[in-house]
Amino acid sequence: MNKTELYAQLYAELEALLAGESDLIANAANTAALIWEKLPELNWAGFYLLKEGELVLGPFQGRPACVRIALGKGVCGTVAASREVQVVPDVRDFPGHIACDAASRSEIVLPLIRKGELVGVFDLDSPRLARFDEEDRRGLEGVTKIFLDSL
Ligand code: SME
Repeated sequence: MNKTELYAQLYAELEALLAGESDLIANAANTAALIWEKLPELNWAGFYLLKEGELVLGPFQGRPACVRIALGKGVCGTVAASREVQVVPDVRDFPGHIACDAASRSEIVLPLIRKGELVGVFDLDSPRLARFDEEDRRGLEGVTKIFLDSL
C-alpha cells in the first residue's frame, strides 16, 4: 500500500472510530492508538495539551514521556508557540530538541487549533532518520482535522 492509500484508509477508520463521540481525552486516546497501529516505523505517537500556558502530556502510545513542556521549548513547544507544523528529519539538528526516548531520530509535530484557539500539539517520533515526508505532513494534517472536527 502506498502512502496515499494508507492515509485514505486511515481517514475512513478514524472517522468511524470518533463518530458520535466528542470527548477530548477519549478521542485523543483512540487517535493515538489508531496511528500507532497503522503507521509503520513509529516509536511514539501522542498528544500534548495546552493547560494554563504550558503543554502537558496527554494520551499517547510509546515509552513514558516528559510531562510538561514550556511554550517555545523543544519541537513541541516551538510548534505550540508558532502554530506551524515542524518536520524534523534529524532531531540532532533541532536546537533544544527534548529527547524523551533516545531511540527517536526524526519527528513531526502538528499544532491543534480549534476555533482560533490552540488546544495542544500532536507529536510523532520515529527511530528512522527522515521518516516523515511531505505526504506524511499532508496526511497527518488530515488526521488532526478529523480529530479536531470530532470535538
Ligand atoms: N521531542 C519532543 C518532546 C516530546 S517527546 O518526543 C514524546 C520535543 O522536542 O518537543
